[in-house]
Amino acid sequence: MRIGVLTGGGDCPGLNAAIRAVVKHGELAYGHSVVGFRNGWKGVAEGDFVTLNRSDVRNVLPTGGTLLGTARFHPHREENGMEQVLRTLRAEHIDGLICIGGDGTLHAASKVAEQGIKIVGIPNTIDNDVEGTDLSIGFHTAVNIATEALDRVHTTAESHNRVMVVEVMGRSAGWIATYSGMAGGAEVILTPEEPFDIEEISKYLIHRHRSHASFSIIVVAEGALPKEGSDMNYEAPVGPYGSIVAGAISEAVAYEIQQRTGFDTRVTVLGHVQRGGVATPTDRILGSRFGVAAVDALSQGKSSLMTALRGEHVELIDLKEIAGKVRKVPQDLLYVAGSLS
Ligand code: F6P
Repeated sequence: MRIGVLTGGGDCPGLNAAIRAVVKHGELAYGHSVVGFRNGWKGVAEGDFVTLNRSDVRNVLPTGGTLLGTARFHPHREENGMEQVLRTLRAEHIDGLICIGGDGTLHAASKVAEQGIKIVGIPNTIDNDVEGTDLSIGFHTAVNIATEALDRVHTTAESHNRVMVVEVMGRSAGWIATYSGMAGGAEVILTPEEPFDIEEISKYLIHRHRSHASFSIIVVAEGALPKEGSDMNYEAPVGPYGSIVAGAISEAVAYEIQQRTGFDTRVTVLGHVQRGGVATPTDRILGSRFGVAAVDALSQGKSSLMTALRGEHVELIDLKEIAGKVRKVPQDLLYVAGSLS
């Protein structure tokens, strides 16, 4: 077979582990040839690709980013996008395509699969919001980075008796905030899943600082919002392509807390640091397992599926079922996060 592979959407550590597994397993187990499309679906539309063999993926297992490049390009939303993609795949005799990305890239994959192209998707996003899988590539590394940042913020917060507001990524889900907030011992964790009441939080901080503490850490997911009708004027600004504007919610929360409590408050926005650097062993292994499973599925003639981690097992689930959905943090996890803060 001649297999194509692409990485679309936000990059993250663990992507190269998946590409490496596709190339190595494809070649060693089946004698497949592999081509890498540059910059996600854009490279497919433009016919921009490279032949990949084992020497091209030597030493990439730990490295962050993606050796193929990425872009936020969705052929089904671009004029002639789908035609261009189908033309390239047919002209290059691509027998099967492995699409590594978040819900945008996977949604496009389900659309291209409807045109008869053999496709298997691999979930990668630090947001961990892809429906159907317990874990997406990159989430584990992002949680590690955010938790380490919270450990660092603790020492300066305590030294200055301050309230520190730390904003983490995650789009419209609160996975990074919930996991890093729990692991980092935050006093308050704000997620999109549970709109917050700033007056309630301020009262809690005043009580806390009067009774037993002199500093507090607040983790805010970039997509968190105040409760409707609660006493905080906030309209979330919208960035390019409808994206979230980093720093907006954390600055607003910090301002309100400073006004209502008088406590010295500072903001830290972690931003793209959460997507950089080397992959944790968990993300290297997850990327490798998903890469192998995707090659096996295509080699068995399967299509329109996504690799998914369910407990300890890698399974294949229907791509159509997950496309366009956002996986939210479940109530039981939010309950525990709320109980310990
Ligand atoms: O989807 C991953 C992510 O990092 C989100 O957490 C964040 O909202 C967005 O991408 C940032 O996008 P960009 O890299 O285009 O600024």
